[in-house]
Amino acid sequence: MKIAIYPGSFDPVTLGHLDVIERAAKMFDRLVVAVMHNGAKKPLFNSEERMGFLEKTTAHIPNVEIAGFDGLLAEYAGQCGACAIVKGLRAVSDFEYEFAMALANRKLNPQVDTVFLMTSAQYMYLSSSMIKDIAQHGGSIADFVPAAIHDDIVLRMRKDD
Ligand code: COA
Repeated sequence: MKIAIYPGSFDPVTLGHLDVIERAAKMFDRLVVAVMHNGAKKPLFNSEERMGFLEKTTAHIPNVEIAGFDGLLAEYAGQCGACAIVKGLRAVSDFEYEFAMALANRKLNPQVDTVFLMTSAQYMYLSSSMIKDIAQHGGSIADFVPAAIHDDIVLRMRKDD
């Protein structure tokens, strides 16, 4: 059984993430989408909310499982029995950072390799921060987030105002 892990902050999950999840789920028997902590970021949504958004977004994909982990990715990949870490590459600018992370993760856990999927062209420019910024300024995020969680995100962000 080939298991892969797709880690991220997912603050919140975007259509770009969903595109990677749907494609990776076809390549592996099981895909664990892991909500993790990026030390450089302060998330807007707590991890339960981010996992809840992912659960709704991926409900139609039977071999996808949502998890949360607050530690090292390489360690968690080992715990899950994953043979691969899946990451999306949006542009050349992502490469150096992703390359460094892939090398560090392989050093920490030589059993797990990182597999990069090119983001589909229509999502190249997307990021979770951009979506939060648009929503915070009253713009429409309907083209950027999965339909299943659009209203949840908008309502939750209104509560913050
Ligand atoms: N479509 C749209 N947006 C995408 C995308 C895609 N396919 N892929 C990534 N993005 C966006 C993300 O939403 C994120 O946006 P943001 O910066 O506005 O939040 C941005 O691109 C960067 O994504 P990514 O590089 O995947 O960072 P991340 O913060 O989502 O995830 C972790 C980073 C959590 C995987 C990483 O910090 C980690 O592994 N943490 C655990 C601790 C650890 O092991 N550290 C050592 C690592 S060597």
